[in-house]
Amino acid sequence: MAADTTVKLPPPDIKSGFSLEEAIAKRRSVRAFVEQDLSLKAISRLLWAGQGVTAKKGGFSFRAAPSAGALYPMETFAVKKDGIYRYVPQTHSLELHAAGDLRPRLAEAAHGQTSVSGAPLAIVLCSVYQRVTARYGERGIRYAHIEAGHIAQNIHLAAAALGLGSVPIGAFDDAKVKTALKLPKDCEPLYIIPVGRPAR
Ligand SMILES: Cc1cc2nc3c(=O)[nH]c(=O)nc-3n(C[C@H](O)[C@H](O)[C@H](O)COP(=O)(O)O)c2cc1C
Repeated sequence: MAADTTVKLPPPDIKSGFSLEEAIAKRRSVRAFVEQDLSLKAISRLLWAGQGVTAKKGGFSFRAAPSAGALYPMETFAVKKDGIYRYVPQTHSLELHAAGDLRPRLAEAAHGQTSVSGAPLAIVLCSVYQRVTARYGERGIRYAHIEAGHIAQNIHLAAAALGLGSVPIGAFDDAKVKTALKLPKDCEPLYIIPVGRPAR
């Protein structure tokens, strides 16, 4: 599939019938995946669970995961075979960031972890610290890290509810990830989350 510049995601199906408890019980780190692209419906559910807009109130667009001061320091990228996309919560869409299969380079930056190169989708959470440190000073850095955990867990549980596997990846070379994904200077990668159908 050629890379599109903007991909409007289908609305997330939030009545899947899968209970939260089932998702918690089923979630396990999965590191080997079948070679099969994920549907846009699945990608929609995963990204919405992480950073989707779930309420608009008083000029704020509140998201699926809590954020200190509702400042939302995280940028979310979807790395797929055809390119890397930035998730835009406000429009629930993907914007092409760079075309081409960057998964092998991302895996290399993650010390060769095959879960990264072998997954049809890797969700990368990056923090723009300035958004929180401007208000909270140094403590804002802690807040961003805590928030990344909230977002990642939502994504893992959504993956479990979809019958997919995922793993949180924290072991990587920050500078190499930034170079591999052509990330903006102020965008610090915190987590890589490969997602796919588990290989059996
Ligand atoms: C902060 C953090 C970083 C992690 N980094 C990696 C990693 O780089 N590679 C990996 O394969 N698993 C990584 N994991 C996953 C753990 O190995 C996994 O959660 C643990 O073995 C428990 O298994 P479970 O997730 O199936 O419950 C990480 C987990 C956390 C919370």
